[in-house]
Amino acid sequence: MEVEEAPQAGPSAEPGQGPLQKADNLPWIEKYRPQTFQEIVGNEDTTNRLSVIAKQGNLPNLIIAGPPGVGKTTTILCLARILLGPAFKDAVLELNASNDRGIDVVRNKIKMFAQQKVTLPPGRHKIIILDEVDSMTEGAQQALRRTMEIYSNTTRFALACNYSEKVIEAIQSRCAILRYSRLTDAQVLARVIQVCQQESVEYTQDGLEAIVFTAQGDMRQALNNLQSTFNGFGVVNSTNVLKVCDEPHPMLIKDMLNSCVTGDVRKAFKIVDHLWSLGYAAEDIIKNIFKVCKNMDMEESLKLAFIKQIGVTHMRIVDGLCSLVQMSGLISRLCMEAKGVKGE
Ligand SMILES: Nc1ncnc2c1ncn2[C@@H]1O[C@H](COP(=O)(O)OP(=O)(O)OP(=O)(O)O)[C@@H](O)[C@H]1O
Ligand SMILES: [Mg+2]
Repeated sequence: MEVEEAPQAGPSAEPGQGPLQKADNLPWIEKYRPQTFQEIVGNEDTTNRLSVIAKQGNLPNLIIAGPPGVGKTTTILCLARILLGPAFKDAVLELNASNDRGIDVVRNKIKMFAQQKVTLPPGRHKIIILDEVDSMTEGAQQALRRTMEIYSNTTRFALACNYSEKVIEAIQSRCAILRYSRLTDAQVLARVIQVCQQESVEYTQDGLEAIVFTAQGDMRQALNNLQSTFNGFGVVNSTNVLKVCDEPHPMLIKDMLNSCVTGDVRKAFKIVDHLWSLGYAAEDIIKNIFKVCKNMDMEESLKLAFIKQIGVTHMRIVDGLCSLVQMSGLISRLCMEAKGVKGE
């Protein structure tokens, strides 16, 4: 479930606004958006490097690439806030996918901003933030390449994207590329516990595990699911979390995989049939089977064989072959793998 980004509080928020001054009606993802590098969880190597750059001031043109909800936009906003301090308002132009960013905007708005004179501390530059740059058309990206060079003595570009390969090579070669990876379960859990304590959320251990499991390293999704469960049910336990996220119960899937390991086709099929009758789509089920299998406690070589079969089935489902027969085929192949019979 991809959660739409809420309207950004970041750029319009006063620079230096500490985490203590929080409005109550903000979504938690905004309320707990880190304001300093120390607060950003994970990808320490990169954030450490950036915090050194932020102190020295000579920012190169940057691309931060990585999966959703791991802190790319947050990092860039922190960087700009530290570099520019009170000048943040005048010296930052932020354009994201919700703004029009066609070729005309690059030619007019971006150029105009780059030409503007702004008084800045010595050694600092104006910053143009292009968020979700992979959604810009190629034409618009092409129009950027020369602009980036011409104004390099006054303006720097900070770009964020999910897929760096969608940024044209010419721009990639003009930027330092930093890659963010998914956060680990422990990192997400620690942050979620912190938020629970600050918001006095009543939670159970298995509830938090369900939050971490459903988020899969996406901090935004973890915080959103936490808030939705809290608002909807009050108590954050695994049943409530799974209701909010509407995902097949991981315990059922675990049971199913264990049945495959012991070769019990009937029981495994019964579970999948049950999930099917609850209305879950094949893609939801297969994604969950993968997530659960990845963390299962089982013999390594068998796990690899399972993951291979799950991958093949996932591919077929994405191709449109998403019937219950497809799922039963998977079960039979998993059972065969467990018995050491070569499938296919
Ligand atoms: N590393 C992190 N540490 C703490 N909180 C985080 C981190 N990453 C994300 N968050 C939380 O998730 C929210 C969204 O993060 P952010 O906007 O930086 O994601 P993003 O990487 O830019 O994602 P997208 O690719 O979807 O734009 C933040 O407001 C914050 O609450
Ligand atoms: Mg972002």
